[in-house]
Amino acid sequence: MILDVMNLKKWLTNVFLLTLAMITTTSDGFVGVNVGTDVSDLPAASNMVNILKAHQITHVRLYDANTQLLKALSNTSIEVVVGVTNEEVLRIGESASAAAAWINKNVLAYVPSTNITGIAVGSEVLSTIPNVAPVLVPAMNSLHKALVAANLNFRVKVSTPHSMDIIPKPFPPSTATFNSSWNSTMVQLLQFLKNTNSSFMLNAYPYYGYTKGDGIFPIEYALFKPLPSVKQIVDPNTLFHYNSMFDAMVDAAYYSIDALHFSDIPVVVTETGWPSLGGSNEPDATVGNAETYNNNLIRRVQNDSGPPSQPNMPISAYIYELFNEDKRNGPISEKNWGIFYPNGSAIYPLSLSASGQINGTYASVFCVAKDGADSDKLQAGLNYACGQGGANCAAIQQGQPCYLPNNVKSHASFAFNDYYQKTHSTGGTCDFDGTATITTKDPSYGSCIYTGSSNSTGDGMSLAPMALGPSSSSEATSNMQVCSLQYLISVIGAFLTLVVL
Ligand SMILES: *[C@@H]1O[C@H](CO)[C@@H](O)[C@H](O)[C@H]1NC(C)=O
Ligand SMILES: *[C@@H]1O[C@H](CO)[C@@H](O)[C@H](O)[C@H]1NC(C)=O
Ligand SMILES: *[C@@H]1O[C@H](CO)[C@@H](O)[C@H](O)[C@H]1NC(C)=O
Ligand SMILES: *[C@@H]1O[C@H](CO)[C@@H](O)[C@H](O)[C@H]1NC(C)=O
Ligand SMILES: *[C@@H]1O[C@H](CO)[C@@H](O)[C@H](O)[C@H]1NC(C)=O
Ligand SMILES: *[C@@H]1O[C@H](CO)[C@@H](O)[C@H](O)[C@H]1NC(C)=O
Ligand SMILES: *[C@@H]1O[C@H](CO)[C@@H](O)[C@H](O)[C@H]1NC(C)=O
Ligand SMILES: *[C@@H]1O[C@H](CO)[C@@H](O)[C@H](O)[C@H]1NC(C)=O
Ligand SMILES: *[C@@H]1O[C@H](CO)[C@@H](O)[C@H](O)[C@H]1NC(C)=O
Repeated sequence: MILDVMNLKKWLTNVFLLTLAMITTTSDGFVGVNVGTDVSDLPAASNMVNILKAHQITHVRLYDANTQLLKALSNTSIEVVVGVTNEEVLRIGESASAAAAWINKNVLAYVPSTNITGIAVGSEVLSTIPNVAPVLVPAMNSLHKALVAANLNFRVKVSTPHSMDIIPKPFPPSTATFNSSWNSTMVQLLQFLKNTNSSFMLNAYPYYGYTKGDGIFPIEYALFKPLPSVKQIVDPNTLFHYNSMFDAMVDAAYYSIDALHFSDIPVVVTETGWPSLGGSNEPDATVGNAETYNNNLIRRVQNDSGPPSQPNMPISAYIYELFNEDKRNGPISEKNWGIFYPNGSAIYPLSLSASGQINGTYASVFCVAKDGADSDKLQAGLNYACGQGGANCAAIQQGQPCYLPNNVKSHASFAFNDYYQKTHSTGGTCDFDGTATITTKDPSYGSCIYTGSSNSTGDGMSLAPMALGPSSSSEATSNMQVCSLQYLISVIGAFLTLVVL
Protein backbone atom coordinates (compact mmCIF):
# COMPACT_ATOMS: atom_id res chain seq x y z
CA MET A 1 0.00 0.00 0.00
CA ILE A 2 2.95 2.15 0.77
CA LEU A 3 4.41 1.44 -2.60
CA ASP A 4 1.10 1.99 -4.28
CA VAL A 5 0.98 5.54 -3.04
CA MET A 6 4.55 6.10 -4.18
CA ASN A 7 3.96 4.55 -7.56
CA LEU A 8 0.82 6.51 -8.06
CA LYS A 9 2.67 9.68 -7.25
CA LYS A 10 5.44 8.76 -9.68
CA TRP A 11 2.96 7.86 -12.35
CA LEU A 12 1.04 11.10 -11.91
CA THR A 13 4.28 13.06 -12.05
CA ASN A 14 5.25 11.32 -15.26
CA VAL A 15 1.90 11.95 -16.85
CA PHE A 16 2.11 15.55 -15.76
CA LEU A 17 5.60 16.00 -17.15
CA LEU A 18 4.68 14.28 -20.36
CA THR A 19 1.69 16.57 -20.81
CA LEU A 20 3.93 19.51 -20.10
CA ALA A 21 6.49 18.37 -22.63
CA MET A 22 3.87 18.05 -25.32
CA ILE A 23 2.45 21.52 -24.92
CA THR A 24 5.77 23.26 -24.41
CA THR A 25 6.86 25.15 -27.46
CA THR A 26 9.84 27.02 -26.06
CA SER A 27 13.22 25.38 -25.64
CA ASP A 28 14.56 24.11 -22.32
CA GLY A 29 15.85 26.38 -19.61
CA PHE A 30 19.61 26.65 -19.12
CA VAL A 31 21.94 27.87 -16.41
CA GLY A 32 24.65 30.29 -17.47
CA VAL A 33 27.27 32.30 -15.63
CA ASN A 34 28.10 36.02 -15.55
CA VAL A 35 31.75 36.83 -16.13
CA GLY A 36 32.77 39.97 -14.24
CA THR A 37 36.42 40.91 -14.45
CA ASP A 38 37.10 43.27 -11.50
CA VAL A 39 39.40 40.61 -10.11
CA SER A 40 43.00 41.29 -9.01
CA ASP A 41 44.41 37.93 -10.06
CA LEU A 42 42.24 37.46 -13.13
CA PRO A 43 43.39 34.39 -15.09
CA ALA A 44 44.33 34.73 -18.75
CA ALA A 45 41.33 34.54 -21.08
CA SER A 46 42.29 31.07 -22.29
CA ASN A 47 42.44 29.80 -18.69
CA MET A 48 39.06 31.34 -17.96
CA VAL A 49 37.63 29.48 -20.92
CA ASN A 50 39.28 26.27 -19.68
CA ILE A 51 37.53 26.77 -16.34
CA LEU A 52 34.20 27.25 -18.12
CA LYS A 53 34.76 24.11 -20.17
CA ALA A 54 35.91 22.06 -17.17
CA HIS A 55 32.64 22.88 -15.43
CA GLN A 56 30.60 22.33 -18.58
CA ILE A 57 29.25 25.86 -18.55
CA THR A 58 27.26 26.34 -21.75
CA HIS A 59 26.20 29.99 -21.53
CA VAL A 60 28.04 33.09 -20.39
CA ARG A 61 27.29 36.77 -20.20
CA LEU A 62 30.08 39.33 -20.45
CA TYR A 63 29.68 42.90 -19.20
CA ASP A 64 31.51 44.29 -22.19
CA ALA A 65 32.98 42.90 -25.41
CA ASN A 66 36.44 41.95 -24.20
CA THR A 67 38.60 41.03 -27.20
CA GLN A 68 40.73 38.39 -25.49
CA LEU A 69 37.73 36.62 -24.01
CA LEU A 70 35.71 36.69 -27.23
CA LYS A 71 38.69 35.21 -29.09
CA ALA A 72 39.27 32.57 -26.44
CA LEU A 73 35.60 31.62 -26.58
CA SER A 74 35.77 30.87 -30.29
CA ASN A 75 35.20 27.30 -31.44
CA THR A 76 33.86 26.32 -28.01
CA SER A 77 30.11 26.45 -28.81
CA ILE A 78 29.62 28.26 -25.47
CA GLU A 79 26.82 30.73 -26.10
CA VAL A 80 27.81 34.30 -25.35
CA VAL A 81 25.85 37.42 -24.45
CA VAL A 82 28.08 40.44 -24.96
CA GLY A 83 27.50 43.71 -23.13
CA VAL A 84 27.21 47.31 -24.24
CA THR A 85 28.53 49.19 -21.20
CA ASN A 86 26.45 51.93 -19.59
CA GLU A 87 29.09 54.41 -20.76
CA GLU A 88 28.51 53.34 -24.38
CA VAL A 89 24.67 53.43 -24.35
CA LEU A 90 24.31 57.20 -24.71
CA ARG A 91 26.60 57.46 -27.74
CA ILE A 92 24.97 54.50 -29.48
CA GLY A 93 21.48 55.82 -28.72
CA GLU A 94 22.31 59.13 -30.33
CA SER A 95 23.99 57.79 -33.45
CA ALA A 96 23.02 54.95 -35.75
CA SER A 97 26.52 54.89 -37.21
CA ALA A 98 28.00 54.45 -33.73
CA ALA A 99 25.67 51.45 -33.32
CA ALA A 100 26.78 49.97 -36.64
CA ALA A 101 30.43 50.49 -35.71
CA TRP A 102 29.84 48.76 -32.38
CA ILE A 103 28.31 45.74 -34.10
CA ASN A 104 31.18 45.58 -36.60
CA LYS A 105 33.86 45.74 -33.95
CA ASN A 106 32.27 43.57 -31.28
CA VAL A 107 30.02 41.08 -33.06
CA LEU A 108 30.88 40.73 -36.75
CA ALA A 109 34.55 40.36 -35.90
CA TYR A 110 33.81 37.18 -33.93
CA VAL A 111 30.78 35.37 -35.31
CA PRO A 112 30.34 32.61 -36.24
CA SER A 113 33.38 31.04 -34.55
CA THR A 114 32.39 32.71 -31.28
CA ASN A 115 28.77 31.86 -30.67
CA ILE A 116 27.43 35.32 -29.80
CA THR A 117 23.65 34.98 -29.40
CA GLY A 118 22.76 38.08 -27.44
CA ILE A 119 23.59 41.70 -26.71
CA ALA A 120 22.78 43.13 -23.30
CA VAL A 121 22.45 46.86 -23.79
CA GLY A 122 23.65 48.53 -20.59
CA SER A 123 23.14 47.19 -17.11
CA GLU A 124 20.10 48.28 -15.10
CA VAL A 125 20.01 51.51 -17.08
CA LEU A 126 16.63 52.73 -15.79
CA SER A 127 17.60 52.44 -12.15
CA THR A 128 21.27 53.46 -12.36
CA ILE A 129 21.43 56.11 -15.11
CA PRO A 130 17.79 57.20 -15.55
CA ASN A 131 18.85 60.23 -17.59
CA VAL A 132 19.89 57.83 -20.37
CA ALA A 133 16.43 56.19 -20.45
CA PRO A 134 15.15 58.26 -23.39
CA VAL A 135 17.83 56.83 -25.69
CA LEU A 136 17.80 53.26 -24.37
CA VAL A 137 15.28 51.83 -26.84
CA PRO A 138 16.64 53.92 -29.73
CA ALA A 139 20.08 52.43 -28.96
CA MET A 140 18.62 48.92 -29.03
CA ASN A 141 16.85 49.68 -32.28
CA SER A 142 20.01 50.93 -33.98
CA LEU A 143 21.96 47.88 -32.84
CA HIS A 144 19.18 45.64 -34.12
CA LYS A 145 19.14 47.42 -37.49
CA ALA A 146 22.89 46.92 -37.80
CA LEU A 147 22.33 43.21 -37.13
CA VAL A 148 19.59 43.10 -39.77
CA ALA A 149 21.99 44.66 -42.26
CA ALA A 150 24.49 41.89 -41.46
CA ASN A 151 21.75 39.27 -41.63
CA LEU A 152 22.44 38.32 -38.02
CA ASN A 153 19.15 39.38 -36.44
CA PHE A 154 17.85 35.83 -36.21
CA ARG A 155 20.99 34.67 -34.47
CA VAL A 156 21.77 37.60 -32.18
CA LYS A 157 19.04 39.03 -29.92
CA VAL A 158 19.13 42.50 -28.39
CA SER A 159 17.74 43.23 -24.93
CA THR A 160 18.58 45.16 -21.74
CA PRO A 161 18.84 43.85 -18.15
CA HIS A 162 16.61 45.43 -15.52
CA SER A 163 16.89 45.60 -11.78
CA MET A 164 13.93 44.41 -9.66
CA ASP A 165 13.84 48.06 -8.50
CA ILE A 166 11.70 48.92 -11.52
CA ILE A 167 8.95 46.81 -9.94
CA PRO A 168 8.28 48.72 -6.72
CA LYS A 169 5.92 46.11 -5.17
CA PRO A 170 6.75 42.66 -6.49
CA PHE A 171 4.67 40.85 -3.86
CA PRO A 172 2.06 39.58 -4.38
CA PRO A 173 3.09 38.96 -8.00
CA SER A 174 -0.43 39.28 -9.43
CA THR A 175 -0.59 42.99 -8.58
CA ALA A 176 2.99 43.83 -9.60
CA THR A 177 3.51 46.61 -12.12
CA PHE A 178 6.50 48.51 -13.40
CA ASN A 179 7.10 51.87 -11.75
CA SER A 180 4.66 53.96 -13.78
CA SER A 181 7.20 56.75 -14.31
CA TRP A 182 8.71 54.36 -16.84
CA ASN A 183 5.43 53.60 -18.65
CA SER A 184 6.36 55.08 -21.98
CA THR A 185 9.89 53.65 -21.97
CA MET A 186 8.56 50.23 -20.99
CA VAL A 187 5.91 50.23 -23.69
CA GLN A 188 8.53 51.08 -26.32
CA LEU A 189 10.85 48.45 -24.93
CA LEU A 190 8.23 45.70 -24.81
CA GLN A 191 7.15 46.53 -28.35
CA PHE A 192 10.79 46.20 -29.44
CA LEU A 193 11.24 42.86 -27.67
CA LYS A 194 8.00 41.58 -29.14
CA ASN A 195 8.89 42.67 -32.69
CA THR A 196 12.34 41.11 -32.53
CA ASN A 197 11.45 37.89 -30.66
CA SER A 198 13.75 38.87 -27.86
CA SER A 199 13.50 38.22 -24.11
CA PHE A 200 12.92 40.50 -21.15
CA MET A 201 16.11 40.50 -19.07
CA LEU A 202 15.66 40.57 -15.31
CA ASN A 203 18.24 40.66 -12.53
CA ALA A 204 16.45 38.84 -9.70
CA TYR A 205 18.12 38.60 -6.31
CA PRO A 206 16.19 36.83 -3.57
CA TYR A 207 19.24 37.64 -1.39
CA TYR A 208 18.20 41.29 -1.45
CA GLY A 209 14.48 40.54 -1.35
CA TYR A 210 15.15 38.55 1.80
CA THR A 211 17.67 40.81 3.52
CA LYS A 212 15.66 43.97 2.78
CA GLY A 213 12.43 42.25 3.79
CA ASP A 214 13.24 42.68 7.49
CA GLY A 215 12.14 39.19 8.43
CA ILE A 216 8.82 39.27 6.56
CA PHE A 217 9.90 36.26 4.50
CA PRO A 218 11.35 33.04 5.88
CA ILE A 219 14.88 32.34 4.66
CA GLU A 220 13.71 28.96 3.35
CA TYR A 221 11.62 30.88 0.82
CA ALA A 222 14.69 32.74 -0.45
CA LEU A 223 16.80 29.55 -0.60
CA PHE A 224 14.26 27.34 -2.47
CA LYS A 225 13.83 25.16 0.62
CA PRO A 226 10.50 23.55 1.49
CA LEU A 227 8.31 25.90 3.52
CA PRO A 228 6.63 24.82 6.74
CA SER A 229 2.97 24.18 6.01
CA VAL A 230 1.87 27.14 8.11
CA LYS A 231 4.16 29.49 6.24
CA GLN A 232 3.21 28.73 2.63
CA ILE A 233 3.40 31.81 0.43
CA VAL A 234 0.22 32.13 -1.58
CA ASP A 235 -0.85 34.97 -3.83
CA PRO A 236 -4.25 35.94 -2.40
CA ASN A 237 -5.65 36.88 -5.83
CA THR A 238 -4.63 33.85 -7.84
CA LEU A 239 -4.16 31.34 -4.98
CA PHE A 240 -0.91 30.31 -6.66
CA HIS A 241 1.62 28.82 -4.23
CA TYR A 242 5.07 30.31 -4.50
CA ASN A 243 7.70 27.76 -3.51
CA SER A 244 10.49 30.28 -3.90
CA MET A 245 11.04 34.01 -3.96
CA PHE A 246 12.86 33.48 -7.26
CA ASP A 247 9.64 32.22 -8.85
CA ALA A 248 7.69 35.10 -7.35
CA MET A 249 10.16 37.65 -8.74
CA VAL A 250 9.99 36.16 -12.23
CA ASP A 251 6.21 36.09 -12.02
CA ALA A 252 6.18 39.72 -10.88
CA ALA A 253 7.93 40.56 -14.14
CA TYR A 254 5.39 38.55 -16.16
CA TYR A 255 2.48 40.31 -14.44
CA SER A 256 4.11 43.72 -14.92
CA ILE A 257 4.49 42.99 -18.65
CA ASP A 258 0.90 41.85 -18.75
CA ALA A 259 -0.29 45.05 -17.04
CA LEU A 260 1.04 46.96 -20.05
CA HIS A 261 -0.94 44.58 -22.30
CA PHE A 262 1.98 42.59 -23.70
CA SER A 263 2.25 38.84 -23.68
CA ASP A 264 4.47 36.01 -24.93
CA ILE A 265 7.68 37.82 -24.10
CA PRO A 266 9.89 35.34 -22.22
CA VAL A 267 11.64 36.52 -19.07
CA VAL A 268 15.29 35.47 -18.78
CA VAL A 269 17.09 36.00 -15.48
CA THR A 270 20.38 37.68 -16.41
CA GLU A 271 21.68 37.78 -12.83
CA THR A 272 20.93 35.86 -9.67
CA GLY A 273 23.06 34.33 -6.95
CA TRP A 274 24.08 34.55 -3.32
CA PRO A 275 27.24 35.93 -1.71
CA SER A 276 29.38 33.44 0.23
CA LEU A 277 30.89 36.00 2.59
CA GLY A 278 29.73 39.25 4.15
CA GLY A 279 30.60 41.75 6.87
CA SER A 280 29.36 41.43 10.46
CA ASN A 281 26.15 43.21 9.42
CA GLU A 282 25.56 40.70 6.60
CA PRO A 283 25.00 37.46 8.51
CA ASP A 284 23.14 35.73 5.66
CA ALA A 285 26.07 35.91 3.27
CA THR A 286 27.55 32.50 4.10
CA VAL A 287 29.12 29.67 2.15
CA GLY A 288 26.31 27.35 3.26
CA ASN A 289 23.56 29.68 2.03
CA ALA A 290 25.39 30.40 -1.23
CA GLU A 291 25.84 26.67 -1.84
CA THR A 292 22.20 25.97 -1.05
CA TYR A 293 20.89 28.82 -3.17
CA ASN A 294 22.90 28.15 -6.29
CA ASN A 295 22.50 24.37 -6.25
CA ASN A 296 18.76 24.71 -5.70
CA LEU A 297 18.59 27.35 -8.42
CA ILE A 298 20.20 24.92 -10.85
CA ARG A 299 17.71 22.22 -9.91
CA ARG A 300 14.88 24.70 -10.23
CA VAL A 301 15.93 25.74 -13.73
CA GLN A 302 16.49 22.15 -14.80
CA ASN A 303 12.92 21.31 -13.86
CA ASP A 304 12.03 23.27 -17.03
CA SER A 305 8.75 24.48 -15.61
CA GLY A 306 7.84 28.14 -15.56
CA PRO A 307 6.66 30.26 -12.64
CA PRO A 308 3.07 29.62 -11.49
CA SER A 309 1.43 32.06 -13.92
CA GLN A 310 3.45 30.77 -16.91
CA PRO A 311 3.91 27.05 -16.32
CA ASN A 312 5.12 26.41 -19.88
CA MET A 313 7.83 29.05 -19.97
CA PRO A 314 11.06 27.48 -18.66
CA ILE A 315 13.20 29.96 -16.71
CA SER A 316 16.80 30.32 -17.81
CA ALA A 317 19.16 32.04 -15.43
CA TYR A 318 22.74 33.30 -15.34
CA ILE A 319 24.44 32.88 -11.99
CA TYR A 320 26.18 35.95 -10.66
CA GLU A 321 29.10 35.25 -10.95
CA LEU A 322 32.18 33.33 -12.10
CA PHE A 323 34.81 34.80 -9.72
CA ASN A 324 34.74 36.94 -6.60
CA GLU A 325 35.29 40.47 -7.86
CA ASP A 326 37.54 41.69 -5.05
CA LYS A 327 38.13 45.04 -6.76
CA ARG A 328 34.48 46.07 -6.60
CA ASN A 329 33.42 48.82 -4.20
CA GLY A 330 30.81 48.33 -1.53
CA PRO A 331 30.18 46.02 1.39
CA ILE A 332 32.16 42.80 1.82
CA SER A 333 29.33 40.76 0.29
CA GLU A 334 29.67 42.76 -2.94
CA LYS A 335 33.12 41.21 -3.45
CA ASN A 336 32.01 37.65 -2.74
CA TRP A 337 29.42 36.49 -5.24
CA GLY A 338 31.83 34.20 -7.11
CA ILE A 339 31.49 30.45 -7.49
CA PHE A 340 35.10 29.65 -8.47
CA TYR A 341 38.55 30.73 -7.34
CA PRO A 342 40.78 32.06 -10.12
CA ASN A 343 42.61 28.69 -10.06
CA GLY A 344 39.36 27.04 -11.12
CA SER A 345 38.47 25.23 -7.88
CA ALA A 346 34.94 25.68 -6.70
CA ILE A 347 34.46 27.88 -3.62
CA TYR A 348 31.76 25.42 -2.57
CA PRO A 349 30.43 22.25 -4.21
CA LEU A 350 28.29 23.20 -7.15
CA SER A 351 27.03 21.00 -9.92
CA LEU A 352 26.57 22.81 -13.19
CA SER A 353 27.49 19.87 -15.32
CA ALA A 354 24.13 18.18 -15.70
CA SER A 355 22.60 21.05 -17.63
CA GLY A 356 19.54 19.76 -19.32
CA GLN A 357 16.95 17.42 -18.01
CA ILE A 358 17.50 13.90 -16.90
CA ASN A 359 14.32 12.11 -17.81
CA GLY A 360 12.06 14.98 -16.92
CA THR A 361 13.13 15.28 -13.32
CA TYR A 362 15.78 17.27 -11.56
CA ALA A 363 19.26 16.17 -12.41
CA SER A 364 20.37 14.48 -9.20
CA VAL A 365 23.69 15.23 -7.60
CA PHE A 366 25.49 12.81 -5.33
CA CYS A 367 28.16 13.24 -2.71
CA VAL A 368 30.94 10.64 -2.80
CA ALA A 369 34.45 10.07 -1.38
CA LYS A 370 37.21 11.66 -3.45
CA ASP A 371 39.70 9.48 -5.24
CA GLY A 372 42.91 9.25 -3.24
CA ALA A 373 41.40 10.75 -0.07
CA ASP A 374 43.20 9.97 3.18
CA SER A 375 41.68 6.78 4.59
CA ASP A 376 41.85 7.94 8.24
CA LYS A 377 39.91 11.04 7.29
CA LEU A 378 37.45 8.94 5.32
CA GLN A 379 36.95 6.68 8.33
CA ALA A 380 36.39 9.71 10.58
CA GLY A 381 33.87 11.07 8.08
CA LEU A 382 32.16 7.70 7.83
CA ASN A 383 31.88 7.49 11.62
CA TYR A 384 30.44 10.96 11.76
CA ALA A 385 27.95 10.44 8.94
CA CYS A 386 26.59 7.18 10.37
CA GLY A 387 26.63 8.51 13.94
CA GLN A 388 25.84 12.12 14.77
CA GLY A 389 25.20 12.88 11.11
CA GLY A 390 22.15 10.62 11.08
CA ALA A 391 22.84 8.87 7.77
CA ASN A 392 21.10 5.54 7.23
CA CYS A 393 24.05 3.14 7.04
CA ALA A 394 22.08 -0.10 7.04
CA ALA A 395 22.93 -0.86 3.41
CA ILE A 396 26.69 -0.96 4.07
CA GLN A 397 26.45 -3.53 6.88
CA GLN A 398 27.64 -7.09 6.24
CA GLY A 399 25.22 -9.02 4.06
CA GLN A 400 23.50 -5.84 2.78
CA PRO A 401 23.55 -4.64 -0.86
CA CYS A 402 26.30 -1.99 -0.46
CA TYR A 403 28.64 -3.96 1.83
CA LEU A 404 30.81 -5.05 -1.08
CA PRO A 405 33.32 -3.84 -2.02
CA ASN A 406 34.23 -3.88 1.65
CA ASN A 407 36.52 -0.86 1.83
CA VAL A 408 36.38 2.47 3.59
CA LYS A 409 36.11 4.51 0.40
CA SER A 410 33.06 2.65 -0.85
CA HIS A 411 31.34 2.69 2.54
CA ALA A 412 32.19 6.34 3.07
CA SER A 413 30.72 7.25 -0.33
CA PHE A 414 27.43 5.62 0.52
CA ALA A 415 27.27 7.24 3.97
CA PHE A 416 28.42 10.69 2.78
CA ASN A 417 25.77 10.63 0.09
CA ASP A 418 22.95 9.58 2.39
CA TYR A 419 23.97 12.29 4.85
CA TYR A 420 24.18 14.88 2.08
CA GLN A 421 20.80 14.01 0.50
CA LYS A 422 19.13 14.32 3.92
CA THR A 423 20.79 17.50 5.11
CA HIS A 424 21.54 19.37 1.92
CA SER A 425 18.36 21.43 1.97
CA THR A 426 19.06 22.54 5.52
CA GLY A 427 22.64 23.56 4.86
CA GLY A 428 24.45 20.18 5.10
CA THR A 429 27.50 20.22 2.86
CA CYS A 430 29.49 17.69 0.88
CA ASP A 431 32.90 18.22 2.43
CA PHE A 432 33.93 15.78 5.22
CA ASP A 433 37.23 17.46 5.85
CA GLY A 434 37.92 17.81 2.15
CA THR A 435 37.46 14.09 1.42
CA ALA A 436 34.10 14.35 -0.35
CA THR A 437 33.03 15.68 -3.70
CA ILE A 438 29.85 16.28 -5.67
CA THR A 439 29.12 14.25 -8.77
CA THR A 440 26.21 13.99 -11.15
CA LYS A 441 27.05 10.40 -12.04
CA ASP A 442 24.78 8.04 -10.15
CA PRO A 443 27.17 5.89 -8.06
CA SER A 444 24.59 3.08 -7.66
CA TYR A 445 25.68 -0.38 -8.79
CA GLY A 446 23.93 -3.72 -8.93
CA SER A 447 21.37 -3.74 -6.13
CA CYS A 448 23.23 -1.05 -4.20
CA ILE A 449 21.05 1.96 -4.83
CA TYR A 450 22.30 5.32 -3.58
CA THR A 451 19.91 7.74 -1.89
CA GLY A 452 18.65 10.23 -4.48
CA SER A 453 19.12 7.81 -7.37
CA SER A 454 16.30 7.86 -9.87
CA ASN A 455 16.00 4.14 -9.09
CA SER A 456 15.43 4.70 -5.38
CA THR A 457 11.79 4.95 -4.39
CA GLY A 458 11.99 6.64 -1.01
CA ASP A 459 14.19 9.62 -1.72
CA GLY A 460 12.92 12.88 -0.32
CA MET A 461 14.05 15.30 -2.97
CA SER A 462 14.53 18.44 -1.01
CA LEU A 463 12.60 20.47 -3.53
CA ALA A 464 9.51 18.35 -3.89
CA PRO A 465 6.81 20.81 -2.87
CA MET A 466 4.92 18.20 -0.84
CA ALA A 467 8.05 16.38 0.28
CA LEU A 468 7.05 13.19 1.97
CA GLY A 469 8.64 12.92 5.41
CA PRO A 470 11.92 11.04 5.75
CA SER A 471 10.64 7.96 3.91
CA SER A 472 7.84 7.31 6.36
CA SER A 473 5.04 6.05 4.26
CA SER A 474 2.09 6.22 6.61
CA GLU A 475 2.76 9.93 6.72
CA ALA A 476 2.36 10.05 2.97
CA THR A 477 -1.22 8.92 3.16
CA SER A 478 -2.17 11.27 5.97
CA ASN A 479 -0.39 14.09 4.17
CA MET A 480 -2.83 13.72 1.33
CA GLN A 481 -5.79 13.79 3.67
CA VAL A 482 -4.80 16.94 5.50
CA CYS A 483 -3.75 18.57 2.28
CA SER A 484 -6.87 20.62 1.68
CA LEU A 485 -7.02 21.85 5.24
CA GLN A 486 -3.39 22.92 5.09
CA TYR A 487 -4.10 24.72 1.90
CA LEU A 488 -6.85 26.79 3.45
CA ILE A 489 -4.69 27.67 6.41
CA SER A 490 -1.86 28.62 4.11
CA VAL A 491 -4.01 30.93 2.13
CA ILE A 492 -5.03 32.75 5.25
CA GLY A 493 -1.47 32.73 6.56
CA ALA A 494 -0.03 34.08 3.37
CA PHE A 495 -2.73 36.66 3.02
CA LEU A 496 -1.81 37.97 6.46
CA THR A 497 1.84 37.96 5.45
CA LEU A 498 1.25 39.69 2.19
CA VAL A 499 -1.08 42.43 3.33
CA VAL A 500 1.55 43.60 5.83
CA LEU A 501 3.44 44.82 2.80
C1 LIG B 1 38.22 28.32 -35.03
O1 LIG B 1 37.94 27.46 -36.10
C2 LIG B 1 38.14 28.06 -37.37
C3 LIG B 1 37.65 27.13 -38.45
O2 LIG B 1 38.06 25.81 -38.16
C4 LIG B 1 39.62 28.42 -37.52
O3 LIG B 1 39.84 29.05 -38.78
C5 LIG B 1 40.03 29.35 -36.39
O4 LIG B 1 41.41 29.62 -36.44
C6 LIG B 1 39.67 28.77 -35.04
N1 LIG B 1 39.89 29.78 -34.03
C7 LIG B 1 40.65 29.56 -32.96
C8 LIG B 1 40.84 30.70 -32.02
O5 LIG B 1 41.15 28.49 -32.73
C1 LIG C 1 25.24 28.57 -31.20
O1 LIG C 1 24.10 28.58 -30.37
C2 LIG C 1 22.90 28.25 -31.04
C3 LIG C 1 21.75 28.47 -30.10
O2 LIG C 1 21.79 27.54 -29.07
C4 LIG C 1 22.99 26.84 -31.56
O3 LIG C 1 21.80 26.52 -32.24
C5 LIG C 1 24.19 26.72 -32.48
O4 LIG C 1 24.35 25.39 -32.85
C6 LIG C 1 25.45 27.21 -31.80
N1 LIG C 1 26.50 27.28 -32.78
C7 LIG C 1 27.66 26.69 -32.61
C8 LIG C 1 28.67 26.90 -33.68
O5 LIG C 1 27.91 26.00 -31.65
C1 LIG D 1 9.48 55.43 -9.58
O1 LIG D 1 10.56 56.00 -10.28
C2 LIG D 1 10.73 57.38 -9.99
C3 LIG D 1 11.79 57.91 -10.95
O2 LIG D 1 12.97 57.15 -10.83
C4 LIG D 1 11.11 57.54 -8.53
O3 LIG D 1 11.27 58.89 -8.20
C5 LIG D 1 10.00 56.94 -7.67
O4 LIG D 1 10.39 56.96 -6.32
C6 LIG D 1 9.72 55.51 -8.08
N1 LIG D 1 8.53 55.06 -7.40
C7 LIG D 1 8.54 54.01 -6.59
C8 LIG D 1 7.24 53.65 -5.95
O5 LIG D 1 9.55 53.34 -6.38
C1 LIG E 1 0.99 53.40 -16.60
O1 LIG E 1 0.31 52.29 -17.19
C2 LIG E 1 -0.65 51.70 -16.34
C3 LIG E 1 -1.18 50.46 -17.04
O2 LIG E 1 -1.57 50.74 -18.33
C4 LIG E 1 -1.75 52.71 -16.05
O3 LIG E 1 -2.68 52.13 -15.16
C5 LIG E 1 -1.11 53.93 -15.38
O4 LIG E 1 -2.08 54.91 -15.17
C6 LIG E 1 0.00 54.49 -16.23
N1 LIG E 1 0.68 55.53 -15.49
C7 LIG E 1 1.08 56.65 -16.05
C8 LIG E 1 1.78 57.61 -15.16
O5 LIG E 1 0.91 56.88 -17.24
C1 LIG F 1 9.84 36.07 -34.78
O1 LIG F 1 9.18 34.82 -34.69
C2 LIG F 1 8.17 34.65 -35.66
C3 LIG F 1 7.43 33.38 -35.38
O2 LIG F 1 8.30 32.38 -34.92
C4 LIG F 1 8.82 34.68 -37.04
O3 LIG F 1 7.82 34.56 -38.03
C5 LIG F 1 9.56 36.00 -37.23
O4 LIG F 1 10.24 35.99 -38.46
C6 LIG F 1 10.55 36.21 -36.12
N1 LIG F 1 11.15 37.54 -36.25
C7 LIG F 1 12.40 37.82 -35.90
C8 LIG F 1 12.86 39.22 -36.13
O5 LIG F 1 13.16 37.00 -35.41
C1 LIG G 1 42.64 27.39 -5.35
O1 LIG G 1 42.64 28.59 -4.62
C2 LIG G 1 42.03 28.50 -3.34
C3 LIG G 1 41.98 29.89 -2.73
O2 LIG G 1 43.17 30.54 -2.89
C4 LIG G 1 42.77 27.49 -2.48
O3 LIG G 1 42.14 27.38 -1.22
C5 LIG G 1 42.76 26.14 -3.18
O4 LIG G 1 43.49 25.21 -2.45
C6 LIG G 1 43.33 26.27 -4.58
N1 LIG G 1 43.14 25.01 -5.27
C7 LIG G 1 44.08 24.41 -5.95
C8 LIG G 1 43.71 23.12 -6.62
O5 LIG G 1 45.21 24.89 -6.06
C1 LIG H 1 16.67 8.77 -19.40
O1 LIG H 1 17.93 9.42 -19.60
C2 LIG H 1 18.90 8.58 -20.16
C3 LIG H 1 20.21 9.33 -20.17
O2 LIG H 1 20.04 10.63 -20.68
C4 LIG H 1 18.43 8.14 -21.57
O3 LIG H 1 19.40 7.28 -22.15
C5 LIG H 1 17.12 7.40 -21.44
O4 LIG H 1 16.63 7.06 -22.72
C6 LIG H 1 16.09 8.25 -20.71
N1 LIG H 1 14.90 7.47 -20.47
C7 LIG H 1 13.68 7.93 -20.73
C8 LIG H 1 12.55 7.04 -20.38
O5 LIG H 1 13.50 9.03 -21.23
C1 LIG I 1 8.80 20.94 -11.28
O1 LIG I 1 8.09 22.10 -11.01
C2 LIG I 1 6.69 21.91 -10.96
C3 LIG I 1 6.04 23.25 -10.83
O2 LIG I 1 6.67 24.03 -9.87
C4 LIG I 1 6.34 20.99 -9.82
O3 LIG I 1 4.96 20.79 -9.76
C5 LIG I 1 7.04 19.67 -10.06
O4 LIG I 1 6.82 18.82 -8.98
C6 LIG I 1 8.52 19.89 -10.23
N1 LIG I 1 9.15 18.64 -10.62
C7 LIG I 1 9.92 17.95 -9.80
C8 LIG I 1 10.50 16.71 -10.35
O5 LIG I 1 10.13 18.31 -8.67
C1 LIG J 1 18.02 1.68 -12.72
O1 LIG J 1 17.11 0.69 -13.06
C2 LIG J 1 17.13 0.32 -14.42
C3 LIG J 1 16.00 -0.65 -14.68
O2 LIG J 1 15.75 -1.41 -13.56
C4 LIG J 1 18.50 -0.30 -14.73
O3 LIG J 1 18.55 -0.66 -16.09
C5 LIG J 1 19.56 0.75 -14.44
O4 LIG J 1 20.85 0.21 -14.67
C6 LIG J 1 19.45 1.23 -13.00
N1 LIG J 1 20.38 2.32 -12.82
C7 LIG J 1 21.26 2.33 -11.81
C8 LIG J 1 22.15 3.54 -11.76
O5 LIG J 1 21.34 1.44 -11.00
